[in-house]
Amino acid sequence: MFGAASSGAAQVDALFLALVLLCGLVALAITVVAGVFVFHYHDSREVNRDNPPANLPRVELFWTTGTLLAFLFLFLWGASLYAFIDMLSPPDDALDIYVVGKQWVWKVQHPEGRREVNSLHVPTGRPIRLVMTSEDVIHSFFLPDFRVKKDVVPGRYTIMWFEPERTGTYDLLCAEYCGSAHSRMRGRVVVMEPEEYARWLERGDRGGLVAQGERYYRNFGCSGCHAPASTVHAPRLEGLFGRPVHLIDGTTTLADEAYVRDSILLPRKDIVAGFAPIMPSFEGQVGEGEMLALIAYIKSLSREGGASR
Ligand code: CUA
Repeated sequence: MFGAASSGAAQVDALFLALVLLCGLVALAITVVAGVFVFHYHDSREVNRDNPPANLPRVELFWTTGTLLAFLFLFLWGASLYAFIDMLSPPDDALDIYVVGKQWVWKVQHPEGRREVNSLHVPTGRPIRLVMTSEDVIHSFFLPDFRVKKDVVPGRYTIMWFEPERTGTYDLLCAEYCGSAHSRMRGRVVVMEPEEYARWLERGDRGGLVAQGERYYRNFGCSGCHAPASTVHAPRLEGLFGRPVHLIDGTTTLADEAYVRDSILLPRKDIVAGFAPIMPSFEGQVGEGEMLALIAYIKSLSREGGASR
């Protein structure tokens, strides 16, 4: 349908079309029947009003269960599509891009280091996974041509993914009223061929998010306790990301973006089994940009084959 530019868009469009058609048919049927009866049984007309047709209950039964089943079917369809789009994690080769919303701009950070404001450059042929948060109020990252939208919430990460299919420039909007300049909180998505995207990344400031994160890791003093050589009894970060973590209360949690973030800002929330809760909170010290860099660095410690210790 019009403007569809992602791999999941056709399914969303099909559902929307079916919803409109079905609602239209039902509305049409009701209108026609109502019109016919209004005309036929008008006060001025001589008709028999005493004996309603005997098979009316059957008609009612058919109409009620029929429409009920049809709309339940739509509900199931929508729910399964939502689960597919929203819950199913994108394939492992997804490209992670970080988004921070603030009144009233979108800040985008690519893992290789390039940043942009109110624009998002992505390559074709690869799922894009956005890790998003906000510095102030709730925003909503909306890409109408890709048929995806998700709230961007302060204090937590939300994840959204899509796979762009065609190169071009598309709208990027904020879809949650977030203050006086909400309507101006918009930008564009530029979809490029992979080679072109690689060249585009090269033109940005080098140094990479991982290198930035490593700098913060030292500057904030994380390395004082978490470095392999440290004498402090603190969990090792090599190989941590993406693995299950055993907590002191006997439960297990996954070391994802939200876990790392909470561990830095709310270190007493999830205490790792076998460790004392001695880590101070970095709430108010680590900004959202710095947080993303730290997470990228901790992720990189798992990618480079750092064995879990
Ligand atoms: Cu941000 Cu509306």
